[in-house]
Amino acid sequence: MAAIAAAGMPSVAAAQNFVLRPEPVMTTLGGVRQELLGFNGSWPGPELRAGQGDNLRVRVENGLQDGVLVHWHGLRLPNRMDGVNVLTQDVIPPGSNHDYRFPLPDSGTFWYHSHYLSYDQVSRGLFGPLIIDEQQPPDVDNDITVQLFDMLTDESGVYDEDTGAEQFVAAGRIGNVMTAVVSRETVQLGDRVRLRLINPSIDRVYDLRINGIEGTIVALDGMPLEQPRPFEDIILAPGQRCDVIGDVSDEIAFADDDTGQTIGRIAAHGQRQHRTTAIPALPPNPMPQPKGREVRARLLMQGGAGGAKHGGFGTWALNDVSGLPREPLLNVRRGTTARISLYNATAFDHVMHLHGHHFWEISKNGEPGDYRDGTLVRAGAARDILCVLDNPGNWMFHCHMLSHQADGMATWLRVG
Ligand code: C2O
Ligand code: CU
Repeated sequence: MAAIAAAGMPSVAAAQNFVLRPEPVMTTLGGVRQELLGFNGSWPGPELRAGQGDNLRVRVENGLQDGVLVHWHGLRLPNRMDGVNVLTQDVIPPGSNHDYRFPLPDSGTFWYHSHYLSYDQVSRGLFGPLIIDEQQPPDVDNDITVQLFDMLTDESGVYDEDTGAEQFVAAGRIGNVMTAVVSRETVQLGDRVRLRLINPSIDRVYDLRINGIEGTIVALDGMPLEQPRPFEDIILAPGQRCDVIGDVSDEIAFADDDTGQTIGRIAAHGQRQHRTTAIPALPPNPMPQPKGREVRARLLMQGGAGGAKHGGFGTWALNDVSGLPREPLLNVRRGTTARISLYNATAFDHVMHLHGHHFWEISKNGEPGDYRDGTLVRAGAARDILCVLDNPGNWMFHCHMLSHQADGMATWLRVG
C-alpha cells in the first residue's frame, strides 16, 4: 500500500557561502513521524542557490555518527571538489569539517547528495537542490523546485532498515511512499511557472504526467534545449532533471503513470490573464565542441539475474568487473572526444551518470541529441554517447540506481 505524503520545502538561502550540516532529522513522511537524515535540521536538505559565474563555497560539518561525502551532481567542477571516496577525497569523519569551493560555469537545475554509502544515506534524505540562476533568467511568475522522492517503509510506516540482498538485485529498492517535495504550494491560475523537476530517488524511474500546466520542456539535466519541446509524459530516471516552463490552467498535479498514483500537487487560486507570449528558450551554457579523432570504448552492463550473490559486490558488473576496477575505462588526454557504446545486457533498466562532464546521447540516425549527465538505457537496449573529456581528473561513471552502484555497477575515466 502506498501513501501520498506532502512535505514543505525548507527556506531558500541566497548567499554564495553555505554551511551544510548532515545530521539526523525528525520529519513526517507518509503520515508518520520518524527520524531520517537531512541537512541543517531540514529534510531533505535546503535549496542552495547561486548565480552563474559565482564561486560557491560550502563548508560541510559532519553531524552524523558515520562518515559522509557531498557530491555536486551534474556540475563541471575541479576534480578534487567532486566528493567521491577513493577517486577524489577521503571520507569526512564524524565531527569533522570539509570545505568545498568551486566556480559555477553553467546555469541550471542541479542537486547535491551524499556520495558515501549513498544507497543508504540518499535513501534517508541526504540530498537537496542546487539551483544556478542564469545571468538573465527567463520571465516567469514562479520558479518552483519539485523533488520526486520515494522511500521504502515497513508495516509501521517508518523507514525500512532491512537491506537484504533482494534490494540490490532486479529494479533495486523501490519505495512504497512517493512524495513530491515542492518549494511552493500555491500559484495563481494563468501564472507562467518554471518547474525544476529532480529525481533524487535511489532506484525509481518516474513516468511523470503533469496536469494543470500547458508548457514545454526547456532543459534536461540542467542544460538548455535549443528548442523548447512539447511533452506528454516525462521519463525521469534517478539523478536526472527536467525543467518545464508553462502556464497554469488548473491545479498542478504530478502523477506517476506507471502506478497511476498522484504524487503531489500545487494548488492554483485566483485568475490572471493568460500570457500570449511564446515560452522562451533558456540562454545556452558554454559547451565544448567535439574535435579530433574519436577515441572509442564499449561498456557492457551485466548481471542482476535471479538473485545471484549478495552481502557485498557481485550482483552487477560492467565489462566483467563488479565494483570499481583498478584501471579506468578510458585514460585520455584532456580535450579528447570519446564515443562510448553502452550495451545493456541485463533484464533491467540502468541510468549511467558521468561525473564532471555532460555528453550527447547519440540518436538512432547517428546524430548528437540531448546533452545530459545521465542516460537511461532500457533493458536489452544499446546507446552511444559522445563526450568531450575536457575536465582533468578521475571521474566516476556509474549507474545512478544507487542499489546497482552499491552492488558493483561502477567504473571511472581518467582525463590527464
Ligand atoms: Cu549523483 Cu556519482 O552521483
Ligand atoms: Cu543500474
